[in-house]
Amino acid sequence: MIYLDHSATTPVHPEVVGVVTDVMQNIYGNPSSLHGLGVKAERLVEEARRVIARKLNCSPTEIYFTSGGTEANNLAIRGVAEKLQSRGRHLITTQVEHPSVYDVMKQLEQKGWRVTYLPVDRDGRVSLADLEKAITKESVLVSIMHVNNEVGTIQPIEQIGRMLANYPKILFHVDAVQSFGKLPIDLQKTPIDLLSISAHKFQGPKGIGALYIRKNIQLMPQLVGGGQEQGIRSGTLNVPGIAGMAKAVLLTEKQPHFLRDCQKWKKALIEKVTERVKPVVINGDLSLEGGAPYVINLSFPGVKSEVLVHALEEKGIIVSSKSACSSKTEKPSRVLKEMGRNDQEALSSIRISLGYQTTAAEMEQCADKLIEVVTKLQQVMKVRSR
Ligand SMILES: Cc1ncc(COP(=O)(O)O)c(C=O)c1O
Repeated sequence: MIYLDHSATTPVHPEVVGVVTDVMQNIYGNPSSLHGLGVKAERLVEEARRVIARKLNCSPTEIYFTSGGTEANNLAIRGVAEKLQSRGRHLITTQVEHPSVYDVMKQLEQKGWRVTYLPVDRDGRVSLADLEKAITKESVLVSIMHVNNEVGTIQPIEQIGRMLANYPKILFHVDAVQSFGKLPIDLQKTPIDLLSISAHKFQGPKGIGALYIRKNIQLMPQLVGGGQEQGIRSGTLNVPGIAGMAKAVLLTEKQPHFLRDCQKWKKALIEKVTERVKPVVINGDLSLEGGAPYVINLSFPGVKSEVLVHALEEKGIIVSSKSACSSKTEKPSRVLKEMGRNDQEALSSIRISLGYQTTAAEMEQCADKLIEVVTKLQQVMKVRSR
């Protein structure tokens, strides 16, 4: 089997499995407890906080553990919106966010907040001019993802952060779930106030993530109880998950050639497929600065995504249609529609997403099988339409 659905989730690295099981078996104390076992667990948690903070170039006290990316996004957006509502009730985001941002915004709209959803161009990118135009005196938060989960487009978060620095009353949240561990993020260089990450996207366990909250930013806790995580996120900490996530962060350092290799393989696959199959629509930005090289999204108009995904699976290639959370719905992808694709193009797209273990040989096989399967399906369609 060739697994190319790493944007949905990644296999957990064996060394991460080792850490998680060791902590489960041996360091099972509650980090809030005063006794030795508790202290041991607390030490692990604080070491993990330091590891993540080092990777982001921020202070460990600015890292708050959550149950994953969804919770981090919910906490950031709802937490800020509720805390700052007396200052203003206008929020800005994009049309192509993950549902854990987009649907929170929709919910807040129903509760009386005003939300601006920025449009994107054909590559899926927002414009700084549109963002600046959307800002009003009531604006309190801008939430824009780093790497899009469906098409890999990289939003210009550095420029956005710098521009927003001229508006000190507006906070900037970045959903970095699809970029953390792969693309560099330096919080001392990029003015970001809140940033979400999730361990299962970089060989860590599922159900653990974190929200970076810049010092002195206050938000409304969404889970109240024991007062853990400086009162921002109550609940007994998932110590094995946290230790596993820290291990996974350390392992990301061991992949210096990842982006370069992915870019090479992405280019080769796209060249081969576009040469041999017609029509093909490339969804996303092919440049290294504009598109994450580990995400490839292609549409084969006339061939249904679901049929293609299953046909490829029969050949041992695992890819996905849209993102994992929405792949079971029949509706065309919101992201692709917003990027100007028509229904047929949006309903015939597949996402091939690469991970640290992906090899050149796997990518070659993927290209060959993709060409074989699409060609066959196109022939079947032709016969049927006669
Ligand atoms: C961009 C983005 N944000 C948020 C999430 C949600 O993260 P989690 O699965 O940890 O809840 C995902 C997961 O697919 C994602 O791709």
